[in-house]
Amino acid sequence: MDLSGHNSFRMKVSCRNFLEYDCAADLEKLDFGAMEGGVKHIGGGSNLLFTADFPGTILHSAIRFIEQKDDSLVSVGAGVVFDELCEWAAEHGLWGPENLSHIPGEVGAAAVQNIGAYGVEAKDIIKTVHCFDMRSRRFTDFDVADCRYGYRESIFKSEEYRNRYIVTAVDFVFRRDGAPVLGYGNIRDAVLRISENPGPAEVRRAIIATRRAKLPEVSETGSAGSFFKNPVVSPQFFSELSARTEGTVPHYEVKAADGRDMVKIPAAWLIERCGWKGVVLGGAGVCKTQPLVLINASGDASPEEIVELENRIRQSVLENFGIELSPEVEHIPR
Ligand code: EPU
Repeated sequence: MDLSGHNSFRMKVSCRNFLEYDCAADLEKLDFGAMEGGVKHIGGGSNLLFTADFPGTILHSAIRFIEQKDDSLVSVGAGVVFDELCEWAAEHGLWGPENLSHIPGEVGAAAVQNIGAYGVEAKDIIKTVHCFDMRSRRFTDFDVADCRYGYRESIFKSEEYRNRYIVTAVDFVFRRDGAPVLGYGNIRDAVLRISENPGPAEVRRAIIATRRAKLPEVSETGSAGSFFKNPVVSPQFFSELSARTEGTVPHYEVKAADGRDMVKIPAAWLIERCGWKGVVLGGAGVCKTQPLVLINASGDASPEEIVELENRIRQSVLENFGIELSPEVEHIPR
C-alpha cells in the first residue's frame, strides 16, 4: 500500500499492510506477533521520515471523539487531528491548547512527542494517557507524572517502551477561567494586535497567523515541521562557545530533567550561520523562512536526498560549533 498520503514529507514509499481501526477494543483482536515484517503505529505522519519502504504493517488510529467529562476534563480519541481539538476548545471558550494551534498531527502522537510551541507543551494540559500495551495485551493508563515528559520526550519514546504502547485516548484539562500564555517571543504583540482582551479564539488566530508567516503549509510543501531539536548544552560549554562567537549566540536558560541548569540554543540560528538557509540540494531543501524545517523542495524528493541534506547540515554544525544536532523527526526504519 502506498504511504504518500500518510506522511507530510510526501515520501513515495509503501508498506506491506495498512491497518486502520476505529475502536480501542479492536486492538485486543490483533495478533501482533504474527504480523510479518514488524509493526509500526503512526499518527498523522507529520513528524516522521520514511527512509525506505516499510516491510510490515502500519497501524493507524481512527478513534475520533471529543467528550467533555466535566467543567475542565476533556477526553479525546487518539485519532483526532490535534488542531481540530484546538479549534473545538477555542469555540467552547476553553483555555489550554490555543498556543498549540495549527501544529500538524494527531492527538495520540501529540502525547508521545510532547508537542510544544510558543511557551506551551502538551504535558502542561495532559492529565492521563490511555494506552494499549502490545506486550501484555492489556489496557493501561499513565498519569501525566508517569509519562516522564521532557522537551519532545516521553516514556513512550524510551528504548524500553517505544513500539510497545499504543495511545488510544488522552484526557486533557482545559479551563474556562484560564489566562493567555504570552511570554514567548513576540506573541504578546501578535495577540494584542487582534484584541486587547483576548479569549482563546483570539490567541488561536494570532498563533495561526504567526505560524503561517514562517512555516511552510504541509498541504503545499512536504515537510515534517522542525527537523532537528534545539540543542541543550551545559553552561560551561555555552560560555566557551559564547566567547568564541563574541556573544552573538541566542540562548535560553532551561532546567534538565534532574534539575541542573542548562542552556538551550536555537538550532535555526546554528543552521543559518552555517549558510544553509534556503539552500536546495537535489530535491531536498532548507526552508527560507525557518531553517529548522527541511522541505521536499521538488515535490519529488527521495528519502536519500533528505537524509543527505540532514547529514551535511549536522556535519557543518558540528564542525563550526562543536554541537551535535539530533533529529526531532523519527526515521523509519531507524
Ligand atoms: N532563528 C534564526 N533564524 C531563523 C529563525 C529562527 O536564527 O530564520 C532563531 C532566532 O534566534 C529565534 C530562534 O531561532 O529567536 C527561535 O525561533 P522560533 O521561535 O521560530 O522557534 P524554534 O526554536 O526554531 C521551536 C519549535 C517549533 C515551534 C517554535 C515556536 C523545536 C524543535 N521547534 O522552534 O516547533 O513552532 O519553537 O514555539 O523545538 C515543530 O516542532 O515542528 C515546530 C515547528
